[in-house]
Amino acid sequence: MSKVTPSLKAAQFTESVIREMTRLARRHNAVNLSQGFPDFPAPPEIKAAAAAAIDRDINQYAITWGSPRLREAIATDFHRRHGLAVDPETQVTVCCGSTETMMATMLGVVDPGDEVIVFEPFYENYGPDAILSGASPRFVPLREPDWTFDPDELAKAFNDNTRAIIINTPNNPTGKVFSREELERIAALCQQWDVIAITDEIYEHILYDGTVHIPLATIEGMAERTVTINSMSKIFSVTGWRVGWAISPPALAVGIRKVHDFLTVGAPAPLQEAAAFALQLPEDYYRDLAAHYAARRDRLLAVLERTGFRCYRPSGAYYIMTDISAFGFDNDVDFTRYLVQEIGVAGVPGSSFYRDPARARTKLRFCFCKRDETLDEAERRLAKLQPMARATS
Ligand SMILES: Cc1ncc(COP(=O)(O)O)c(C=O)c1O
Repeated sequence: MSKVTPSLKAAQFTESVIREMTRLARRHNAVNLSQGFPDFPAPPEIKAAAAAAIDRDINQYAITWGSPRLREAIATDFHRRHGLAVDPETQVTVCCGSTETMMATMLGVVDPGDEVIVFEPFYENYGPDAILSGASPRFVPLREPDWTFDPDELAKAFNDNTRAIIINTPNNPTGKVFSREELERIAALCQQWDVIAITDEIYEHILYDGTVHIPLATIEGMAERTVTINSMSKIFSVTGWRVGWAISPPALAVGIRKVHDFLTVGAPAPLQEAAAFALQLPEDYYRDLAAHYAARRDRLLAVLERTGFRCYRPSGAYYIMTDISAFGFDNDVDFTRYLVQEIGVAGVPGSSFYRDPARARTKLRFCFCKRDETLDEAERRLAKLQPMARATS
C-alpha cells in the first residue's frame, strides 16, 4: 500500500464544516450567517495602532511567547477585571489566535493516551485538537433548552486517565454562559481527580440580559490548574489578525511556550502592539460592543422565529442555535444545503458540533455578527422559506 497518503492522525477528522460553509456561501452568493466573523469594519483606533507599529518598524519576530508590552497588558487587564494576579513573565503565552493557543496547550500539557473531557455540543476544533495531541475525547452532553449538564454524568466522565477538561464559556454554539454553581462543580472534580482545566473564554465580553462571565481560574483552587484562553478576534472584530493568548500556571506555560515556538515562532509582531493598545480601551468600548450585539441578537431572533425556527436564546457569544423540525427535512445537512442553494442563506448544520450526527438532526446554528444590511438581506431571503416547505412542495 502506498505511503504517499495523509497521516492516520489527519484521517481521523474532516475539514472544518464551518469554514466549508463559508466557501459554499461564496459559491452560491448566499448571505453568510455561518462562520463567526464580523462583516463590518474593525475599530479605526485599533487599525491605526497596527499601522503605527508597522511604521515604527516593529516588523521582526517578537519574543516567542509574546511582546513584553502585550503580555503586560494581558496580565493587567485580567487582574483589573477579575482580581487575580498574573505574572506576565511566566504565565502569559501569546500565540496565533486562540486556535493555535488551544492546539499549543493541548500538545504542551496532554500526553498520548490521556482522556480529555469535552462538553457536547462543542466548538468543532476541540475534537481534532484532542486527536492531534494523541488524547481521547470523552463527551459530556449539555442538554437543551438550558444546555445544562447532569452532575452525575459529568462525575462519571472523570477517571485516573483524565488529564484535562475543555470548557467554553460563553459558549459556541449554544450561547450558554456557565453559572458559578456549574463552574464550582467542575472545579471540585478537577481538584478531586488532579485534572487541568482549559477554558476558552474568547466571548467573555459578549454577554446579554445582565449575564455575568466568571473565569474558571477565579474559582478557589483553580488558578494553579487552569489555562485561560482568549483572543483579539471576537473582542476587537479582527478575526484575520490571529493574535490570541493563554494565561496559565508557570509550569504549564513551559510546555505551551515550547510547542508554540516550534509551531509558529510567534504571533504577528505589529499586531501584538495593536493588541496591547486595544486592551487599554475604556470600558465604554466593551459596553458598546455588547449593546450592539444584543440588538443584533434580538433582531435575528425575531426574524428566525417568524420564519418557523425554534430558537435557543443565547446569553452570550454571537450565535443562535435553532431547532429546524418545523421544516420537515430528514436531517440538518439536507436542510442546510437547501437553505444555502435555494434560499440563499448559509448557516452551520448542527452535526458539526456533535460527535453523533443523530443528536443534531434538527439543529442549525446561525451567527449574527453582521451589518444591519446583511441581516436585512437575510430577512428578505428567509421570508421565502415555508415551514414544511419540503413536505408540501
Ligand atoms: C469557541 C471558539 N474558540 C475559538 C475560536 C477561534 O478563534 P481565533 O480566531 O482566536 O483563533 C472560535 C471562532 O469562532 C470560537 O468560536
